[in-house]
Amino acid sequence: MKMTKKKLFSDEPVQIGSDSGYDNYIMAIESSCDETACAIVKNGREVIANVVASQIKTHAQFGGVIPEIAAREHLDSINIVVEEAFKQAESTEGIKPEDITAFAGTVGPGLVGCLLVGLNAAKTLALVYDKPFIGVNHLNAHLCANYLDTDLKPPFIALLVSGGHTQIIDVKSYSEQVIIGETIDDAVGEAYDKVARLIGLPYPGGPKLDKMAQEGNPKAFKLPQAKVDEFDFSFSGLKTAVLRLVNSFDGKDLPVKDICASFQECVSSTLVKKVKKALEKSGYTQVVIAGGVAANSEIRKKMFALSDEGYKVFAPPMKYCTDNAAMVASCAYFNSNTFDDINVEVFSRVK
Ligand code: KG4
Ligand code: ZN
Repeated sequence: MKMTKKKLFSDEPVQIGSDSGYDNYIMAIESSCDETACAIVKNGREVIANVVASQIKTHAQFGGVIPEIAAREHLDSINIVVEEAFKQAESTEGIKPEDITAFAGTVGPGLVGCLLVGLNAAKTLALVYDKPFIGVNHLNAHLCANYLDTDLKPPFIALLVSGGHTQIIDVKSYSEQVIIGETIDDAVGEAYDKVARLIGLPYPGGPKLDKMAQEGNPKAFKLPQAKVDEFDFSFSGLKTAVLRLVNSFDGKDLPVKDICASFQECVSSTLVKKVKKALEKSGYTQVVIAGGVAANSEIRKKMFALSDEGYKVFAPPMKYCTDNAAMVASCAYFNSNTFDDINVEVFSRVK
């Protein structure tokens, strides 16, 4: 079978299915961190199967993700999630493995041992069913979660906030994206997780901190917003400020909810202030939020408030914010103008 660089979709891939009279079904696998996931998406937008096996309980006992254990758990779960996805697709759309247009897998960034499990499964499926293979960048996939079940079309500004990244992206077209700002130190999710640990909240810290913040006073403590370039971010100073604040209580009656609320207020207002600037500069009318931290209640609230100023705001539902394979399938459809070579390799960091 010939696998190398064929034209897959044009820059307006949504048109392809309807023009050619046939639908594209992409099966994707995601295993970059601690979720083993498989999904099938029709024409980049319609989710017809979506299965996620989370390892959260396993890693909770260690207070964080242990890469070796995560990779082994992916091995245990991979066949189960793939079989379940095929089952769902057959019952919802009557789609069989032979009907899949292409198989996709996350190539990076992520934990290498984990990525290898999902990517090799996706490649194997492509070989077994004699279909093309598409390698997907995990960050682009988070962004494409916004195409699922919506009619969103570029151009737009995207705020990508995850455990490893914080970026403002100018999405000019389906395939052309320019990073216009990013963090110079900690990512937002990383800052959430570190601050959560600092105040004694259990893993996974981000969502727990968010929950506590909703019951606290966001004005209780004034925390510093870093002064960095126009669209860049820095969260390490904020983390240190929280550490100082915690130490000032000397172990006595730590006002955890108020600290959470004040931290959340500082982070969310910094993010949304810069997103607004990027919108004004670009002249775009649409804005999206993506990545695991897009699940955050206050960041969502402030982003959705931009609609009062005339912007159209998109945010994936919770199940598509955290790691899943539907976003990977959508990305394979919208971001890939070619099929990939079956020998494509995984990578751990952003290239
Ligand atoms: O995108 P993701 O699932 O994994 C990466 O690709 O990094 O994001 C995980 C990150 C973690 O840092 C987690 O604490 C954070 O997203 N997170 C949250 C919330 N839900 C997940 N942070 C703040 N508030 C939340 N509700
Ligand atoms: Zn992710």
